[in-house]
Formats: sequence, structure tokens, C-alpha cells
Amino acid sequence: MNTQSLRYQHDRSIWDQCATTYERQIVRGHPDVTAYESFEHSFIEKLVLFLTRDRSLTIDCYDFGCGSGRIHNLLAPFLFNAVSELKTQNILSSGKLVHVGGIDFSKQMIELAKQNLASSGLDTLYPEYLSFDIGSAFDVAPYTGPHTPLAVSVCNSIGVMQGEEGARNLFRTMHNYIKERKGIAVISCYCLEAVESFALGNYESTMDVSGQPCWLTPETYTGNDCTLLPNYYKRAHDKDPNIIIDVIDSENKCIERNFKLTRDPDKVKKVIQTGQIDTFNGYRSLWYSTKQIRNWMKELWTGGTLWHIPGIQLDRLRGEPAQLAVIDYNGAFEPLARTWNLRPLSR
Ligand SMILES: C[S@@+](CC[C@H](N)C(=O)[O-])C[C@H]1O[C@@H](n2cnc3c(N)ncnc32)[C@H](O)[C@@H]1O
Repeated sequence: MNTQSLRYQHDRSIWDQCATTYERQIVRGHPDVTAYESFEHSFIEKLVLFLTRDRSLTIDCYDFGCGSGRIHNLLAPFLFNAVSELKTQNILSSGKLVHVGGIDFSKQMIELAKQNLASSGLDTLYPEYLSFDIGSAFDVAPYTGPHTPLAVSVCNSIGVMQGEEGARNLFRTMHNYIKERKGIAVISCYCLEAVESFALGNYESTMDVSGQPCWLTPETYTGNDCTLLPNYYKRAHDKDPNIIIDVIDSENKCIERNFKLTRDPDKVKKVIQTGQIDTFNGYRSLWYSTKQIRNWMKELWTGGTLWHIPGIQLDRLRGEPAQLAVIDYNGAFEPLARTWNLRPLSR
């Protein structure tokens, strides 16, 4: 088995293990992460509204690395309109969103996604209008349906997709997915430039999800049999080198209260330079620089119009740690981009 397949299997088992805590502590947990997610929600909602209403396109959306179905839940209200129209055969002249699909390699994540839809009462739409696939985001075949494909990959999924080779694969696969039917693809991810201000605190505050970050010492409780429970959320721009945790053993007993972990300055420096975040549990996330993402766009997304959007340009507070990569084969995104004073990277 080659290194990439080994990494894939390793990462899949990590995501299966952490699915439930990830959902509680990250997706619906850390306030700076939920702020980033609501920045993405706002962008995607505006995009879908614009494409369907103002550009009269009929959109089929697909989420690469969909996790617990956040984008399915977000976009389901748009589908309701389409569903009632389709059922009455009363097709409006404007466009509509007709389907949201998604893929994730973690069975546990997809299980959570289905539960989330069920708890919002949305599973009645499933599987005709909302669907999930379990598998590799790199194996998704090009879209051949009758509508305009909108491919999305959000919340830095690209950064946890098996390193740089995986990131390039994601760029290629999403490009192939939309190209034939002249669609749009959006990758939303964190920036290397925000590692110091956002990543350090985020990962220190959520080590019950992914394990103790490798820049924290001592390593007393880094074995997999303990859960390290931070006592509070450390917020963006907090420079405190310490974090206080409780240590919980495998029988759910607290074996150490108010244990202090401290940043190792040399290791922190390396993380800030490289954007490579590792934990003692084997979890890895990469925060790519804006330059790197722009280079991949130019190299791997040839043909459409490219837009690279620093999150801070759209939303100073919620978008600060983020960047968006957009390719548009349709020309449909341009009028919306112009309202935000954006300029294309290339055409
Ligand atoms: C950071 S989470 C984001 C989840 C979701 N997009 C969200 O915003 O809540 C990344 C997701 O990518 C999935 N993933 C990582 N590598 C993958 C791959 N090669 N193929 C499919 N899914 C993958 C993980 O299982 C995880 O659910």
C-alpha cells in the first residue's frame, strides 16, 4: 500500500473516532469556529440565492468532505420551494436549487449527518433531494446531470485531506466535477497567516476532539487512553502560552484537575511558519497560505474565471481567518463579485 493510501486509512479512522466530539466541540462548539462557519453560511446562502433568483439557474450542489451535513441543513429551506414546485409541476420561470449531495470518507460523520437531518425533520426529503455518499472526495465522477453544478468544500476540509497531494487532488476533482456542465466550485479554508491568531487557541481549546497539540508540554497524558478536557475556550488573538485542563481516564473518572499545559516557543514558531498542525493522537490539519491557494488555482483550475477572496474582505470579523477559492465557468458569479468590489484572479 502506498503512503497516500496509508494516510487515507489513518485519517479515516481518526475522523470516525472523533465524529461525535467534533460535532459537539467544533461544528457547534468553539465560538471562533462557529463564527467562521456562519461566515461560510452567509456566503453560500447569498451565492445560491443569487444564482437561482437573479441568474435563473437550476442548481445541483455537492459538498466535498461534507462531515455532519452542515451545508445540507443550511440549504434545505431553498429546496423546499423547489420540491413543492416540482410536486405541483408548477415550474417557476426563475431557477431553483434541486438537490444537495455530499461525500465523506467517515461512516460516523455520514451517520451524524443523517441524524442531524432527521432531528430537523428534513429527512423526509432524503434521499431524493438530499443525499450522501460514503467514500473518497477524490473519486467523485464529473457531473453529467441536466443542471448547473455547484461544488463546495468548506471549513478547511482541504486542510485535512491527506496533505498537499490530497489538496491538489481535491482541486482537480472539483474542477472535473463542474467543468462539463459549466458550473461553479468554491473551496473555503483557513489561511496560514491566521495560524498564530486563530489556530493555536482553537486547537488548544478542543483537544478533547483531536488530542494534545504537539507544541504543548508536558507530554504526561498524551497516551490515547485519556481525554484532555480544556476548562475554557481560548479565543482568537489570546497570547496566553498556558491552558488549564482536566484529565479524564477511560472509565470517565477525573484523574487530574487543573493541569497546566504550556507552549514550547520553538515548536510554536515552526507551526506558525509551516501551518502544519499535529496532535499526539495523529490528527493533522494544514492551514495553507493565500499564495499557495492562489498558485494551485492558477495551476489546476484552468478554463473558467478565478476569484480568490480573502475572508476579511467580505467580513472583517467572521471571515478574518479564512480564504475562498472560486472558479466560475458560467460567468454567473461575476455580477455578485462586483457588488463586493472583487477582482478576478484570471480569466
Ligand atoms: C474539517 S471537517 C469539515 C466537515 C464539514 N465540511 C463541515 O464544514 O462541518 C473535514 C471532513 O473531511 C472528511 N475527509 C477528510 N479527508 C477526506 C477524503 N479524502 N474524502 C472524503 N472525506 C474526507 C472528514 O471525515 C471530515 O468530515
